[in-house]
Order: sequence, then C-alpha cells, then structure tokens
Amino acid sequence: MSGAIRIAPSILSADLTRLADQVRAVLEGGADWLHVDVMDGRFVPNLTFGANIVAALRKLTDRPIDVHLMVVEPERYIDPMADAGASVCTFHPEATIHVQRQLAAIRQRGMLAGLALNPASPLALVEDVVSDLDLLLVMTVNPGFGGQSYLPAATEKIQRARALLQARRSRAFLEVDGGIGPETIAAAHAAGADTFVAGNAIFGSPDPARQVRELRQRCAVQV
Ligand code: DX5
Ligand code: ZN
Repeated sequence: MSGAIRIAPSILSADLTRLADQVRAVLEGGADWLHVDVMDGRFVPNLTFGANIVAALRKLTDRPIDVHLMVVEPERYIDPMADAGASVCTFHPEATIHVQRQLAAIRQRGMLAGLALNPASPLALVEDVVSDLDLLLVMTVNPGFGGQSYLPAATEKIQRARALLQARRSRAFLEVDGGIGPETIAAAHAAGADTFVAGNAIFGSPDPARQVRELRQRCAVQV
C-alpha cells in the first residue's frame, strides 16, 4: 500500500483527568483524526462516552472526530453525534435491522458513514452496501476494551477487505482498530489498511506525540 494514511488516537486510553492536555499532545504529534469509542454496556460489556464528549472535543480541534458506535440501535445516536460535531460515524451491522437506512441517515447528516466488523463477522455482511460506505472498519480485537492484543488472523481479513473495496472501485477508508502499535501497524498497513486507531500504544506512552509520529513512520517500513 502507498498513499496517505491516517492515525486516529483512541481517547479511551487517555488520562481523562487531563483529557484536553492529552488531546493537544496527539494533535501536536500530527494525529489526523480523534477516535471516540461509544459503548452502551449492551453491544459490548463496557460503558463509556456519549455525545457530550464529542461536543467537548469539538471545542479543542477542527480535525475529524471519528465516532465508533459499539451500541445496539445505533439509529438512536446518529442525530446526537451529528449535533455534537462528529465527522465520521461507524456502527456494527449486527446492531440494527436496517443497515442501509442508517448508513444513508449518517450521510444525510453530513458525516462519513462506516461499518465495523468484529473478528468473527464476515465481510459478506457489508458486501451489499459497499457503495453506501465511506469507511470500513476491520476490528483487530473483540471490541469492548483498550489494551488487548492484535489478533493475527485479522491481517488476512484486511487483505480481503482491501480486495473487496478495490473490486467495487470503492474509495472508502479501510480502518483497523485494536492492538495497533509499533509492532503491528506495518503488517496491517501492508495488508491494505490506511487508517489506524491506537489507544494504549499512544496514551500508554509517556510521550503520546512522539508515539503518533512513530506509528506513522512504521507504516513506511516494508514487511
Ligand atoms: C476497542 C475499541 C478501540 C480501543 C483500541 O473496543 O474499539 O478503539 O480503544 O484500543 P487499543 O489500541 O489499546 O487496542
Ligand atoms: Zn474503536
């Protein structure tokens, strides 16, 4: 893969007692997007942020805010996220009955529309809506928590996802999320990912800005 890549720090792993400082640090390091993990305690066994955090982040930056909805009935969150200033809105296809309707609703609200696939969820779940997608997120861990290890089987799935997008002449972003760090990002990039979420690797470091730069550099490494 060549071309532009995006690094999207996940604030799930940030020190929330000093969120603004942490966000400024990653922006200074060149973070392209900010990734916000919205969990409802139902779709995943954890509870995190709502639209109020997106609105707070929007006051800190003009850069895209990438909302990852790990919730049942994502349709209930589309308007609140748009109103709060989200730029990208991604949900899981198992979480709603009318997937295409929600993708269209997200675009209608001026956001980029994304679908996320769990490790066990097949690419077939998105095949019939590729033209409705601005982003495809291949989960490289089971969603719910930061700090988990990259699942090696994901690399081949990223390759198949890239092949699907190419076959359909889709220009959707291909994002990966979970266990992305200096040791795993090059393989995901070589497999065809172009947008990289990282939580623990960035905010678990004493120098988050440097880690953003490091991750970007690692994408230039041949694997
Ligand atoms: C996991 C979330 C991820 C998480 C990634 O459910 O979707 O965005 O923050 O964290 P790391 O990079 O620590 O695996
Ligand atoms: Zn995420």
